[in-house]
Amino acid sequence: MAPGRNGAVLPILGLLICAVFIYFSIRDLWLNHKGSPELGFVKRNGTQFVLDGKALYVNGWNSYWLMDHAVNQHSRFLVGEMLEAGAKMGLTVCRTWAFNDGGYNALQISPGRFDERVFKALDHVIAEARKHDIRLLLSLVNNLQAYGGKSQYVKWAWQEGVGLSSSNDSFFFDPSIRKYFKNYLTALLTRKNSVNGIEYRNDPTIFAWELINEPRCTSDVSGDTLQDWIDEMTGFIKSIDDKHLLTVGLEGFYGPKNPKRLTVNPEQWPSELGTDFVQNSNSSNIDFASVHIYPDHWFHNQSFEDKLKFVVKWMQSHIEDGMKELKKPVLFTEFGLSNLNKDYEPSQRDRFYRVIFDVIYKSAKRRKSGAGTLVWQLFMEGMEGFNDEFGIVPHEQDSMYRLMIEQSCRLGKVTGRRKEHKLRQICSHRH
Ligand SMILES: *[C@@H]1O[C@H](CO)[C@@H](O)[C@H](O)[C@H]1NC(C)=O
Ligand SMILES: *[C@@H]1O[C@H](CO)[C@@H](O)[C@H](O)[C@H]1NC(C)=O
Ligand SMILES: *[C@@H]1O[C@H](CO)[C@@H](O)[C@H](O)[C@H]1NC(C)=O
Ligand SMILES: *[C@@H]1O[C@H](CO)[C@@H](O)[C@H](O)[C@H]1NC(C)=O
Repeated sequence: MAPGRNGAVLPILGLLICAVFIYFSIRDLWLNHKGSPELGFVKRNGTQFVLDGKALYVNGWNSYWLMDHAVNQHSRFLVGEMLEAGAKMGLTVCRTWAFNDGGYNALQISPGRFDERVFKALDHVIAEARKHDIRLLLSLVNNLQAYGGKSQYVKWAWQEGVGLSSSNDSFFFDPSIRKYFKNYLTALLTRKNSVNGIEYRNDPTIFAWELINEPRCTSDVSGDTLQDWIDEMTGFIKSIDDKHLLTVGLEGFYGPKNPKRLTVNPEQWPSELGTDFVQNSNSSNIDFASVHIYPDHWFHNQSFEDKLKFVVKWMQSHIEDGMKELKKPVLFTEFGLSNLNKDYEPSQRDRFYRVIFDVIYKSAKRRKSGAGTLVWQLFMEGMEGFNDEFGIVPHEQDSMYRLMIEQSCRLGKVTGRRKEHKLRQICSHRH
């Protein structure tokens, strides 16, 4: 090398390297500061979910137990494992409980008193979801008794000597209980995550809030009591948090306010539960509708083939409501086939899931309101105590595993998301 030429080039090269180094250092700092890279909120545009300017159709799942398992050190790893297993199937949304009222490992120990240990567990769940690029649909109270539910609130009101009625439905109409629930909502929405410092109401990892799991108010068949509660609580939530989407958590039954739809109900009894899918979901602060699908529990004696027929009709009816009546997305937030059926075989689950996934795929292709599905329910090996007649461990049934990946990939194709890094890897070794 000629010494003369090196003398001129080296300092320039040195400066260049320096400049490049400084550029990357500053960029890294910037990205880290913002929680690299910036995560967008899921929004809605008419009957579709939108994320980063593109439509989003959801292929997701339920694991109600995440917070519960994050409380204890020995079981905390299951949260990360579950989220990772979901992400590997291209799933994007997980629905889980953000409540545990009274009882073991309660988040809310008594009205307005919270266990910081359990709140930290929920912080962990949310931070961990972000790490795996999974968004959370967080449910805020149970209509059923598991994890406290509305009967726990009613019990508290009695213990404090303020309860108006012993009916569990007084959860919906008793002013003291409404106040309890609002206090809980305030605490949760304004909670500052101890892992990442983000208030829950400002965290885009949260896909949406679900007001209540499977509300029923049989003491007022007209539906007015539940409707009034929904209107008040959704207004209250939006006054604190207007960034997140909000849904009710309905099973999807039609009530007396909707006579022409009553024949779509599985049998006669669902019209007497004090709910109506269209009226409840039409509430002005509700952003999207939610529906469950459980023919095993809803019919007394129906053949598997008839169940499949029902499922298609049930879904199409709600998607049509989403288009014509509500002009909102419709998310099927729980569905499953029971393994307790007399004639049950695992291959039936494949068919059951496929029928449901096909309805959503067709809806997505036509830009209709069928916005996605959440399987009930996924759990990990060694958690049999948290299984029910519907649970699935990913990998355990290969055909099911492939089916879920296929759904992620074809929905990704419809929205142009298949080219994105995550789906590209999952879908690349497929046709
Ligand atoms: C919202 O929907 C309208 C009508 O379907 C469409 O023209 C528009 O591009 C959508 N906007 C976004 C951001 O997706
Ligand atoms: C309220 O619900 C609880 C739990 O399901 C049940 O034990 C209790 O009997 C119910 N109370 C009334 C008055 O129905
Ligand atoms: C839904 O709400 C809108 C506005 O509040 C109202 O105009 C419309 O009639 C309602 N639709 C149904 C089906 O209740
Ligand atoms: C239930 O359905 C099966 C087949 O559809 C039929 O053979 C059976 O008699 C039914 N049982 C009752 C109790 O209705």
